[in-house]
Amino acid sequence: MTEAILLVGGKGTRLRPLTVHTPKPMVPAAGVPFLTHQLARARAAGVEHIVMATSYLAEVFEPYFGDGSGLGLRLEYVTEEEPLGTGGAIRNVASRLHAGPDDPVLIFNGDILTGLDIRALVDTHTASGADVSLHLTRVDDPRAYGLVPTDADGRVTAFLEKPQTPEEIVTDQINAGAYVFNRSVIDSIPADRPVSVERETFPGLLASGAHLQGMVDSTYWLDLGTPQAFVRGSADLVLGHAPSPAVPGRRGDRLVLDGARVAPDAKLTGGTVIGAGAEVGAGARVNGSTVLDGAVIAPGADIRDSLIGAGARVGARTVLDGAVIGDGAVIGDDNELRGGIRVWCAAHIPPGAVTFS
Ligand code: GDD
Ligand code: MG
Repeated sequence: MTEAILLVGGKGTRLRPLTVHTPKPMVPAAGVPFLTHQLARARAAGVEHIVMATSYLAEVFEPYFGDGSGLGLRLEYVTEEEPLGTGGAIRNVASRLHAGPDDPVLIFNGDILTGLDIRALVDTHTASGADVSLHLTRVDDPRAYGLVPTDADGRVTAFLEKPQTPEEIVTDQINAGAYVFNRSVIDSIPADRPVSVERETFPGLLASGAHLQGMVDSTYWLDLGTPQAFVRGSADLVLGHAPSPAVPGRRGDRLVLDGARVAPDAKLTGGTVIGAGAEVGAGARVNGSTVLDGAVIAPGADIRDSLIGAGARVGARTVLDGAVIGDGAVIGDDNELRGGIRVWCAAHIPPGAVTFS
């Protein structure tokens, strides 16, 4: 049996205002809290016991997922008194693991949507005899990630978290946020102080001659840390581009949850999700967007690549493109909001107040 640790304690700053009341892993993607997809994929790969390392808004996880039996899992929760960083969070849950010193333990960042073959990562780890193995992926612009160059055998030669200078950009291979650690390596992380696994543990292990193995995998991969990525990931789950056993309903152009009311001539496309109890008025068009529970889209609104918070209202003929509307916000009729704009929870924008030339 393989065990896993899920890191879900980050503040989700870049996803504000969606993460003001909801921790990033609990923001709904394709109709369920995002974390459900990761838990279901881990379960499908044979993981039975998962320890969640929580910090920010820790109290919301357990009431929702409980003991995990609904997903066929045994879930435990460990909350940090002060955020301990990624490495500190891993060390802080060690007492809950059953693995022996040489047994593999899976560790996942809590904001990654990926088609990674989890068993293949464990098999690579075992076959290579590594101390730690990392899922790696290639991206066009690696600067926002941990850079992980490897040698011809896939052995990691350096770990450069969020490089600051052009000289540090030595590869387009990045840390994809899924690891296998030998249990003994987890126990070697210092306890009771903040530790970054990326800035301290990995460089320290490399300096001491430990074997870190990379597995480059070009399957679907997305870090849902920004609003644009979150909306994209949710749409890709609905469209079936990103694999998950937890999408409620059939894959297709749209996912309309129970109790939503959609006018017959409204057009929902591109993996759009309409949440429970939400309303979409006549002639509205919603493309590649997530409309959370109880939100109202008035007639003739035109929404693309946007996230509409729970209970928010988008006025008639209003155009949204790449916008994030916080929970309970009210956007009056005939507005035009584009390009990464964020409207705070419960804010009001009067009719016709914002336009583009
Ligand atoms: N429990 C706990 N405590 N969890 C934490 C803490 C903490 O103090 N800090 C961060 N986390 C969790 C976050 O909730 C998230 O699931 C994960 O650790 C990674 O944190 P992010 O804030 O999302 O980091 P990032 O996206 O900037 O970078 C990380 O992911 C990249 C891939 O998406 C790094 O691991 C990079 O190296 C990597 O390339
Ligand atoms: Mg992230």
